[in-house]
Amino acid sequence: MSSMQKNRLLIIGAGGFGREVLQWAQDVQAQGCVDWEVGGFLDTNPQAFKEFDIDLPVLGSPEAWQPSPEDRFVCAIGDPTIRLCICRGLQARGADFVSLIHPSAIVGSRCDIGTGTILCPGVTVTVDATIGDFVILNIRSCVGHDARVGDGCTINDFCDVTGNAKLGEGVFLGSHSSVTPSASVGDYARVGAGSVVVRRVRANTTVMGPTAKRIDWTAESAASSDAA
Ligand SMILES: CC(C)(COP(=O)(O)OP(=O)(O)OC[C@H]1O[C@@H](n2cnc3c(N)ncnc32)[C@H](O)[C@@H]1OP(=O)(O)O)[C@@H](O)C(=O)NCCC(=O)NCCS
Repeated sequence: MSSMQKNRLLIIGAGGFGREVLQWAQDVQAQGCVDWEVGGFLDTNPQAFKEFDIDLPVLGSPEAWQPSPEDRFVCAIGDPTIRLCICRGLQARGADFVSLIHPSAIVGSRCDIGTGTILCPGVTVTVDATIGDFVILNIRSCVGHDARVGDGCTINDFCDVTGNAKLGEGVFLGSHSSVTPSASVGDYARVGAGSVVVRRVRANTTVMGPTAKRIDWTAESAASSDAA
């Protein structure tokens, strides 16, 4: 490769999140410190941009793609199982994934961010946290100190993975959900939007709902509120 020639970043998935990732990749590219430029998309639907003014090609299906040495990849498919399957398949064929960290994201000291992971705008990973490969941390989500996020997790907008929390592989957190300190979520579990995990969610289960409930009830407090 000559010094002027850049590698090409291919975004896997040309849906709504793919268009968002295009924006974030262009923001990263504008900073001028990467050796790639966005070169197109891989998607099974060649007409994905029919209704959008996007001047980039959909080059083919990710399942059939044979990576070239100048190809770099990032995956914008929200479903953890599908994303891991496609990314690991491409990796086995020699694909070189990049991590996409938006300029507005904050990553603190001693954090480990895996390959092919995307940090969208406003994400914070505080300190000593470990984020696996092919993870999506969507807009304004936060991962606290010493937390561990397994490969292929999808952490949607405004989620809060607090200190020492642990997410297994392929966990899906719906938007605005929280995992409280030291709580854990097993492999491929799904947590509904707006839910709060306070202890342990078993692998391959779906949970949902807020857990706030009164925990300091005493006969005295009941009597005083009755009197009020
Ligand atoms: C948890 C979730 C994955 C489950 O999806 P699902 O298996 O398709 O379940 P359904 O949508 O069919 O809902 C099943 C029931 O749970 C209820 N429910 C769904 N999500 C809920 C939530 N977050 N909180 C409370 N109840 C919920 C539904 O009302 C429905 O109840 P009903 O049977 O009484 O009508 C999904 O509801 C969810 O929260 N997804 C998050 C999506 C998100 O944040 N996306 C961000 C990127 S766009």
